[in-house]
Amino acid sequence: MATATPVLVDCDTGVDDAIALLYLLAHPEVDVVGITSVFGNNTARTCALNTLRVLELAGREDIPVAVGSENPLVGEVTYLATHVHGGDGLGDTGIPPADESALSPLSATALISQLAQQFEGQLRILAVGPLTNIARAMDADPAIVSRVRDIVFMGGAADVAGNQSAAAEANIIHDPEAARAVLSAGWKATMVPLDVTMTEILTDDDRAALVAANTPVSTFVAAITDLYFDGYGADSFGHRCSPCHDALAAAILTGEVVPEVMPLLHVEVDCTDGPGRGATIADTRGRWKGFPDQSGGNCRVALKTDGSFPAKLLARLGA
Ligand code: RIB
Ligand code: CA
Repeated sequence: MATATPVLVDCDTGVDDAIALLYLLAHPEVDVVGITSVFGNNTARTCALNTLRVLELAGREDIPVAVGSENPLVGEVTYLATHVHGGDGLGDTGIPPADESALSPLSATALISQLAQQFEGQLRILAVGPLTNIARAMDADPAIVSRVRDIVFMGGAADVAGNQSAAAEANIIHDPEAARAVLSAGWKATMVPLDVTMTEILTDDDRAALVAANTPVSTFVAAITDLYFDGYGADSFGHRCSPCHDALAAAILTGEVVPEVMPLLHVEVDCTDGPGRGATIADTRGRWKGFPDQSGGNCRVALKTDGSFPAKLLARLGA
């Protein structure tokens, strides 16, 4: 078997972040070597404690979890997505809090820098929350950009509307300046936007399959998605269901989902204070000629996937 790939996950655990973590932990070719938390779905501290709960469930308490930024690079946090992920960040199912003493003594910036050095040339980053920690880590240790193999991030909207505003997706609008820094750093980057995450949908039949599988992981995922289905499904689709944004990004990182359309494009972030703040402006003018890679492109953008993700996710989760 090929040596497993070292992956650092930066997340705001949250329901779909938790699913992404469980997906990666079940993947034989991935070695999750560290996790950093960031504000977004809840506070960075709560997201870190939620991450510890997920690792306990998976029997992986060996993985270091460091608490990261509670605020964006500029200004203060303006909202937390508790209305979508629940007051506790994990669907308000009454899961007892984790033991805070299990948190890493390192800051998120220090853990990112340490792992980039330890796994120089091999470390992959999956970022599925606001990109604040990544931007702060680049600022503190610019060498991470050349040391990290690549970064895959869930965020943005190329040719579709946002979800936090008409123009902006949540992870990006939480910290547009951080997203701009990540996109202009020069490393190999892949953006997994709402264009694809809103087309790979879990249904209540999928939840029923998870319940029927009756494993600790499948039962946990079925439980934490119940509230998420109500909130996300009703608001976005008019019926119970949900995308699993972060887990799809994880599956694109592993290669288990290979997007049918994922060109190299130039992507900018609107950092103004107008109605477009947080928009990811992807240059998709090449659409009419088959999306050739753009010479000035700064990231690959997943624009179309084949709908196979839910079945692959359930299989990984034991359903
Ligand atoms: O817009 C969806 C993204 O925002 C996902 O990463 C979700 O977990 C939230 O962080
Ligand atoms: Ca997330």
